Amino acid sequence: MTRLSKESIQQALTTSLFGRKLFFFESIDSTNACAKTLAQAGTPEGTVVVTEFQSHGRGRHGRPWSARSGENLLFSVILRPPLSRTSAGLLTFFAAVSVARGIELVCEKLMEYKWPNDLLFNGRKTSGILLENSLDNGNVDYAIVGVGINVNQREFDGDLSRRATSLALELGRSVDRTLLFTSIMTSMELAYHDVRTGEFTALLDEWNARCTMFGHQVTVAQNDTRITGKAIGLNADGGLILETPAGLRTIYAGDISLLPA
Ligand code: BTN
Repeated sequence: MTRLSKESIQQALTTSLFGRKLFFFESIDSTNACAKTLAQAGTPEGTVVVTEFQSHGRGRHGRPWSARSGENLLFSVILRPPLSRTSAGLLTFFAAVSVARGIELVCEKLMEYKWPNDLLFNGRKTSGILLENSLDNGNVDYAIVGVGINVNQREFDGDLSRRATSLALELGRSVDRTLLFTSIMTSMELAYHDVRTGEFTALLDEWNARCTMFGHQVTVAQNDTRITGKAIGLNADGGLILETPAGLRTIYAGDISLLPA
């Protein structure tokens, strides 16, 4: 299996900003942790940290993200968007749309979303996004978009074997990771125009079109509470609107599970 390298990625990139400044590691604790340190030191937006292996990969809600070495895509992008605290959460939709567009171009298959930022392929998770924002005076100082994509890994341990899949497993062929990475950098650079202008309507519409959960009964777990209702759409801030027996509820964080029909 071909390993990633800084040289081959940079040769294939067609972007002018995203990925032009690139830190590549064979192994690191977490690309998000590294990108955060770089951002705090003033590293410009568009900078990307890529690795073949993470010893302490981070998922949402403090969970670990594990991925075998040399088979997947694990990277974090530094952004400095002109957004206020209230719009910061919308970056999640920018990231999810960019990653889906990049994958779809290379794999010629449609991706699905599970709110807020899981990418599914044939109903199973193939990619997760961890967005970490740092605020300064009510505005975003920097944001780290961490992306993990199961690309060519064909075996998953324990519980993951039920829930996770990879592009290779679903397509029945390996995927060129350099091509996939550069495709995502291109789609991010294009979509970032909407973030800069604060225009999220088209990104949210595109996210809605890939979401297969609307019209279905779901349960959202938030710490110790559970809310069940029919998922009916997103509001303008990216919150999930649920129709519950007690009326409409909008949820901004949590883990979703689809109830059996
Ligand atoms: C999730 O679905 O829980 C989000 C997973 C995000 C994982 C990626 S892998 C690259 C980047 N570095 C990390 O430590 N986490 C993100």
